[in-house]
Amino acid sequence: MWLMTIAAGIVTLLLLTWLRDYMKRWRMPPGPFFWPIIGNIYLFSGRMYITFIDLAQKYGDVFSLKMGMTDVVVLNSLDAVKEAFVKKGVDFAGRPKILSNEILTEGGKDIAFTDYSPTWKLHRKLFHGAIRGYALGQNLQTKVHESLEDTIAEFSKMEGQAVDLEGYIYKLVYNVICSTAFGVRYNMDDEDFITLMKISKDMTETLGQGLLADVYPSLRFLPSPALTAFRKMTEQSLTILQRHLEEHRETFDPSNLRDITDHMIKAQKDAEEEGIQDINSLTDTHLRQTMNDVFAGGTDTTIWTLRWANLYLAAHPEIQEKVAAELDSVVGRDRLPEMSDREAMPYTEATIHEIMRMGSIAPLSLPHATTVDTTLSGYQIPKGTWIMPNLWALHHDPDTWGDPDVFRPERFLDEDGKPIPKPAALMPFSAGRRACPGDAVAKAVTYLLLGGLVQNFRFSIPEGEGPPDLTPDEKGGGAACVPYPYKVVMTCRK
Ligand code: HEM
Repeated sequence: MWLMTIAAGIVTLLLLTWLRDYMKRWRMPPGPFFWPIIGNIYLFSGRMYITFIDLAQKYGDVFSLKMGMTDVVVLNSLDAVKEAFVKKGVDFAGRPKILSNEILTEGGKDIAFTDYSPTWKLHRKLFHGAIRGYALGQNLQTKVHESLEDTIAEFSKMEGQAVDLEGYIYKLVYNVICSTAFGVRYNMDDEDFITLMKISKDMTETLGQGLLADVYPSLRFLPSPALTAFRKMTEQSLTILQRHLEEHRETFDPSNLRDITDHMIKAQKDAEEEGIQDINSLTDTHLRQTMNDVFAGGTDTTIWTLRWANLYLAAHPEIQEKVAAELDSVVGRDRLPEMSDREAMPYTEATIHEIMRMGSIAPLSLPHATTVDTTLSGYQIPKGTWIMPNLWALHHDPDTWGDPDVFRPERFLDEDGKPIPKPAALMPFSAGRRACPGDAVAKAVTYLLLGGLVQNFRFSIPEGEGPPDLTPDEKGGGAACVPYPYKVVMTCRK
């Protein structure tokens, strides 16, 4: 009898919670029916950014879903993203407070996954300073050129073979970003390189599919292989970064700042001496987390962009030849492309825009959360609601682009081949307070690396293979658009 009473009590509680949520939905953006406990969780799998486009046709550009019992609002149009992230910036600048973010950020001490707060603002400001000092201009160009020279020598040895370049592109990008962040360069067989590359791939897959404990927080106390693996991966990569931080501290010289890590150590020492900052916001954990922001934020994103670049150019030889011809006429073949050449290469620049549009490597950006009760498109959005901007939808909207599924760099040029103002709907780096602070580095690195590779090699699809599959790999889930594994054949141009 008492068992039946408990069961009836649970069912009544569930129904009341569901009814409360259902009533709340009246003033929120519309959305599909949701079930008690699971909500619409089945919609958050695979290439969900494409599912969301279908849902927007039925419910409008701004619609609500329930991820388990959490409210999620999806933004599918430029107007909605602009209203939320630009016009009402602070209201929409939070991050969800979930277990995976807490683990990754060691309790909210990073930039990317930490909620909107004074500490987040301080670290973003320091990050910008460090980027300006060490990760742009001549410094960056030198690091890219050093890494490119290695890669060009490696690629030349593989001429004519069908190769999957993934590992080589990892190494190339790691060597640019890691040397800028903490002065390290890797060989393919370095233990740290192999560990970090594996963690990066496994992490993308885990976060792409989502952790159940993020949706149902009470599950954090139950044994879960995915959660255990996630904790282990985080610990492993932070241990490597901590080692670099300690080495930097031992050899630190304030008159010779070598990289972003040195810059952060100096900021910490200045704060200690001047006593002007809350020193609890600049602990070693914060420094290690900023190193991770540069490493994790800068490597995967750039690698995925280059992977798409390689694939799209191999699939469109006529476009690749136009980029190569521009490089020939502006740079020639005796030196690598430099930042000062960039302005004279509108076709290459347009091709990079088109790769970023078609690839949309961060299809749903990073999830935001509302910091207060607010409104959007006339609907009420309670504090703590997850906000997912569908950047993929903005980049593939037929009303904006006409032929969104065609790879056509010319859409960014006028009839004379000159650049047109960049359409506002192109936002691979998102917008507003949380927009990617590494965008200038990312654009410069992509331009220098892609330019150097196309100047030296022709990339083509292996003979006898049909057109490549340009659909993003489902494994990336909603977190990342990455191509399925593919091979290309390289021919030296020189
Ligand atoms: C093609 C390359 C890149 C793309 C497409 C990209 C895209 C993005 C996107 C979409 C976000 C989320 C913005 C939001 O929440 O609204 C982001 C955040 C971030 N990115 Fe990038 N990114 C790239 C490269 C980089 C690089 C090179 C760095 C570091 C040098 C970097 C560091 C960060 C950081 C620290 C954040 C978190 C910002 C915050 O939460 O305040 N990214 N990026």
